[in-house]
Amino acid sequence: MAQLWGGRFTKSTDQMVYDFNASISFDKKLFAQDVRGSRAHVKMLASVGVITDEERDQILDGLDSIEADVNSGALEITSEYEDVHSFVEANLIDRIGDAGKKLHTGRSRNDQVALDMRLYTRDQVDATSQALKHLLETILGIMEEHIDTIMPGFTHLQKAQPITLAHHMGAYFEMFRRDVLRLSDIRERMNYCPLGSGALAGTTYPLNRDMTAELLDFNGPTLNSMDGVSDRDYLIEFLSALATIQMHLSRFSEEVIIWNSNEYRFVEIDDAYSTGSSIMPQKKNPDIAELVRGKTGRVYGALTSLLTTMKGIPLAYNKDMQEDKEMAFDAMETVQNCIVLFDGMLATMTFNKEVMAESAKKGFTNATDAADYLVNRGVPFRDAHGIIGQLVLYCIDKDKSIDELSLEELKAISPVFEEDIYDSISMETCVNKRLTTGAPGHEAMTFEIKACKEFLNSL
Ligand code: ARG
Repeated sequence: MAQLWGGRFTKSTDQMVYDFNASISFDKKLFAQDVRGSRAHVKMLASVGVITDEERDQILDGLDSIEADVNSGALEITSEYEDVHSFVEANLIDRIGDAGKKLHTGRSRNDQVALDMRLYTRDQVDATSQALKHLLETILGIMEEHIDTIMPGFTHLQKAQPITLAHHMGAYFEMFRRDVLRLSDIRERMNYCPLGSGALAGTTYPLNRDMTAELLDFNGPTLNSMDGVSDRDYLIEFLSALATIQMHLSRFSEEVIIWNSNEYRFVEIDDAYSTGSSIMPQKKNPDIAELVRGKTGRVYGALTSLLTTMKGIPLAYNKDMQEDKEMAFDAMETVQNCIVLFDGMLATMTFNKEVMAESAKKGFTNATDAADYLVNRGVPFRDAHGIIGQLVLYCIDKDKSIDELSLEELKAISPVFEEDIYDSISMETCVNKRLTTGAPGHEAMTFEIKACKEFLNSL
């Protein structure tokens, strides 16, 4: 048991209490951030004269050697220490003696852990943004390639109107675009340095908090020391953004699973991203998409857990806050893995253009356009709706699509139909006449794709 605080105790800690209290098993993830924060802290301490330049250099050398040994595996972060902060400080004192005992001057573990977690989270925000950027590039590639690939658009999972694959992909581009923007908002708001808040009430040493903040690439120091040590809003915001990203991935996965099913066959997932069955030799399962969908629960869980942990905590630091880590780390890792795997699956997936086009045709997705044809020739919309309804019934009975009927069959239902009906309700016409901003028509999509590209270039 290596503790930093034995002074006022007359008995040693019960082993179970020690284990329950310790956080090293998970906060060792913060090692790099802890060392980085300590470097900035001692540079600042020396600059304001709280320690000498010599002591600063000794501490910096000590931190370098600890870091090198941890990275090489020569030094292991073990449960012999209560937390990562104790690990670094104890090893520093072991290596450089008395100067090491000055590292913690003007600092508390409360502002130290607040800093470490913030630095770690900031890196994770950036890594998540990068992964999303790559996914957006993959989606954009599919949009460019499939601007004229017709497929049915659905509402209620019933075929509704013809769209293109580019249009469908464009919807996901928008979702992930907003996710990227959300992350950049969060980064901006969280980018203030809590170090120097002390335990809760700052410190009597003449700390230069602006300098520490600058050394650690923050916009500035946090403004209130009680908030500095006890704010976990930034992490809640990030977990909320991660939950939203995962919700988007899960929705997308659900579609891939449906499209990949034997009934739809819109897509084929690459062998590298599929798995087989131990008993059914014919099976090729979309496990990656299912796992991405399935992992959504644990990401929501992390958000709910931290919101619940924080809701009853009086100011300032309380040990409850140690619970901010494990599930958050898990959510960060899970979402990044899901983005990368989903991206790979999407990039290698093949789209069965003929099957999609045929499905759009067979599903009466041009029924609205057929009604509009009548309306344009003077039939009131409500009557046109009824006529096309009858037409659809007739088609179902004959197992044909609307454009497969002869002009005589069409005229028997409404004499308004003429030869130009066929062109008016072809899938290509139905799609390409839809030119409002955001619609699937070729020109509208060209505009959308250009805007998407500009967005990616701006990142
Ligand atoms: N392991 C603690 C945490 O994660 C570090 C801060 C401990 N501070 C304290 N006063 N016990 O929150």
